Amino acid sequence: MGKRLPSILTSYNTIRVGHSCRSIQIVHNTADLSAKLKDQPESIIIGGGSNILIINDLEQPVLIINNKGIEIIDEDETSVLVQIAAGEIWHEFVLWCLEHNLGGVENLSLIPGKCGAAPIQNIGAYGVEISDVLREVRVIDRASLEQRVIKAEDCALEYRNSIFKHELKNKVVITHIVLKLSKPDHHKLRLSYGAIQQELSSLESKEITIQDISRAVVKIRQTKLPDPSDLPNVGSFFKNPIIENCIYDKLVVRHPDMPSYPVDEKRVKIPAGWLIDKSGLKGYRIGDVGIHVSQALVIVNHGTTDGLEILRFSQFIQREVERTYGIHISPEVNILT
Ligand code: EPU
Repeated sequence: MGKRLPSILTSYNTIRVGHSCRSIQIVHNTADLSAKLKDQPESIIIGGGSNILIINDLEQPVLIINNKGIEIIDEDETSVLVQIAAGEIWHEFVLWCLEHNLGGVENLSLIPGKCGAAPIQNIGAYGVEISDVLREVRVIDRASLEQRVIKAEDCALEYRNSIFKHELKNKVVITHIVLKLSKPDHHKLRLSYGAIQQELSSLESKEITIQDISRAVVKIRQTKLPDPSDLPNVGSFFKNPIIENCIYDKLVVRHPDMPSYPVDEKRVKIPAGWLIDKSGLKGYRIGDVGIHVSQALVIVNHGTTDGLEILRFSQFIQREVERTYGIHISPEVNILT
């Protein structure tokens, strides 16, 4: 019998690198996941593949999480608790919320990926993070195969970070998330983000709805961020670095136009997109990998199948920013090896 061809991951990662793995299997429900983890405990888990960079061929089998289901599990006068299967597409879930007039995730419209990945990096955009509405994360423990519930307050959620990137990395697989959403007449609209206000300014006379916010966010994202199906990418490749006020105070003397957002009393966040842009790298390209022409935070793949080429390009960008501003920018994307 001839040697079995390896499975190729190209269509399971949105930056479309073409490394291989031992096998690819689709997971349809929790029992299925449990059985597959029992047979292949070393499996690598992929959701929507929109926040990963694979940099070499993988020895392990890959499981694609595809369980489905959105269910209201509890409610009171003002809110509902909704349980969402990890394999649901995030934006399709947001559309479901808009259809049922449930508020809390409208600012997170059009974020790529599946629901199970959302708490891992605490997805956030336009003034909202999933930590604002997350109540529980349901997981399978990879060692014991037991199902567990982790309360949101035990998830160590912070800017683009959580316990799932540290203590629980490779220890659990997320099967469901539970969010608390507001019922009609109890929505808290988050309009502080300048671009949203600008988009909504034409609606002055009308009462703003969660549907209006979602439409504004979709419009902003479609203008600012490249669609991975046209130009493969993983959204923000880097996190916005957080630096001490005393370092910022020195930098701003030399770079008075440097934007910053307060994190707490001692620290500020600097947009990595601004740092890359002002280092002269917007639109910069080496071979098939480049910085997007209108959003410097996004690395785009013009045709390479090799994730290592993308990693090396990103390291070059890190060095250039460090040389120009003395600030280290870390990848936001999860680098799989
Ligand atoms: N900027 C530039 N040049 C650029 C990009 C940005 O000068 O090429 C400047 C902008 O002018 C602005 C500042 O940087 O003053 C911030 O830019 P923007 O509002 O576009 O947001 P961001 O910090 O670049 C973050 C998230 C995005 C999220 C937006 C909106 C991170 C790493 N990224 O981007 O998240 O959509 O805010 O809230 O925190 C993602 O995670 O994949 C993602 C797209």
